[in-house]
Amino acid sequence: MILVTGGAGFIGSNFILDWLAESDEPVLNIDALTYAGNTENLASLAGDDRYVFVRGDVCDRPLLDSLFATHAPRAVVHFAAESHVDRSIHGPAEFIRTNVEGTFTLLEAARSHWSNLPDAERQAFRFLHVSTDEVYGTLARDDAPFCETDTYEPNSPYSASKAASDHLVRAWHHTYGLPVVTTNCSNNYGPFHFPEKLVPLMIVNALARKPLPVYGDGLQVRDWLYVKDHCAAVRLVLARGQIGATYNVGGWNEKPNLEIVGTVCALLDEMQPHPDGSYAHLITHVPDRPGHDRRYAIDARKIERDLGWRPAETFESGLRKTVRWYLDSADWLARVQTGAYRQWVSANYDQRGA
Ligand code: NAD
Ligand code: TYD
Repeated sequence: MILVTGGAGFIGSNFILDWLAESDEPVLNIDALTYAGNTENLASLAGDDRYVFVRGDVCDRPLLDSLFATHAPRAVVHFAAESHVDRSIHGPAEFIRTNVEGTFTLLEAARSHWSNLPDAERQAFRFLHVSTDEVYGTLARDDAPFCETDTYEPNSPYSASKAASDHLVRAWHHTYGLPVVTTNCSNNYGPFHFPEKLVPLMIVNALARKPLPVYGDGLQVRDWLYVKDHCAAVRLVLARGQIGATYNVGGWNEKPNLEIVGTVCALLDEMQPHPDGSYAHLITHVPDRPGHDRRYAIDARKIERDLGWRPAETFESGLRKTVRWYLDSADWLARVQTGAYRQWVSANYDQRGA
C-alpha cells in the first residue's frame, strides 16, 4: 500500500479518489483534520477496504512509527501542510510546525522504516514530497519561467516553510540515501477546493452576491493547473521519477488574477445567470497582500521530456468543470462555511473593507 499524508485536503482527496479509480493498491491516509481537512471529500470510499483513514498529526513520531510497522507502505506521498499564504501572514507558527517539523518527523519515521527493509523493498521504496512553485520567489514580467535549477527565494512564511521542507527532503537523500522525489507545482484549482483560495472564494462570494475581493491591481500572475492534472503528474513521478530529482509541474497557463475572476464570472453568468446582471459587477479592488509575489510561471519541460506528462485539461475546460462542480455541490459548500470559516473571512477581509 501507499501512505498518503494530508489526504483529506484539496489535492490529497483528489489524489486518493483518482488513485483508487486507477489502481487497486490500497491507500493509508493520515490527516490531522485541521480546518482544511474534510473527510466528506472521501465519502464515496465508505466501505471500500482499499482505503484506511487514520486521524493523526505528521509531527507525532510514535504514531508514524506504529503506522509504518503495521502497514509497511511501499511509498509515502506527502501532501500534509498548512497551505494558505494569507493565513501564514496572520499566523506563521503553525506553518513552521506542520511544514518543517512535520516533514522532518515524517522523513525520520520513513528513514527508520526504510533502513530496516530487505534489499529489494528498500530499493523500491519512495518518499514523494509535494511542494510548490512559490519556493522560487517572484518573477518580473519578462523573466523566464521557473525551472528546477533556479535558486530558492521564498518570500512568504508559507513559501519559506515549504522551501525549508524541500531542503530537508533533499538532505535526507544526500545524507542518508532515502529515495526521495519532489514535485513543485503551480496553483491548482478544481473540486473540493476550500473556499479561502482565489477560485473557490470568488465562486462562493459571487453566489452569495458578496464583493469579489481582488488584491491590489489584480494584475498578479499565477500559472493555473487543474487539480487532476497535478494528481496525474504525482502518480507518474512516483512511478518513474528519478530518485533525488525534482520536477516542476505547471499548466502552461499564466493568467492575471483579474482575468481568472472575470472568467469565473462569465461562466457563472452562463450557467446560473442572476436577474441583477453579471457577477462581474461584484468585483472590488481591496488593499493588497503584504509582500505579494507579482508573478509565478512554471517551465514544465523536464517532466514532459523525461516522463511524458502534459496537462490534459485546458484552462477553459478545467474551469468549466470546476464551476459546474461548485454549482452541483451546494451542500458541501454550505457545510464547509462553518463558524471558523466565517471568522477567517472576517479576519482577512474586514480590515480590507470587503
Ligand atoms: P489543503 O490545505 O487543502 O490540505 C492540507 C491537508 O493537510 C488537510 O487535509 C489538513 O487537515 C492536513 N494537515 C494539515 N496539518 C497537518 C498535520 N500536522 N498532520 C497531518 N495532516 C495535516 O492543501 P492542498 O491545497 O491540498 O495542498 C496539498 C499540498 O500541495 C501542500 O503540501 C501544498 O503545499 C502543496 N501545493 C498546493 C498547491 C495548491 O494550489 N493548492 C499548489 C502546489 C503545491
Ligand atoms: P491564492 O489562491 O491564495 O494562492 P497563492 O497566493 O498561493 O498564489 O491566491 C491566488 C492569487 O489571488 C494571489 O495573487 C492572491 C490573489 N487573491 C486575491 O486577489 N483575492 C483573494 O481574496 C484571494 C484569496 C487571493
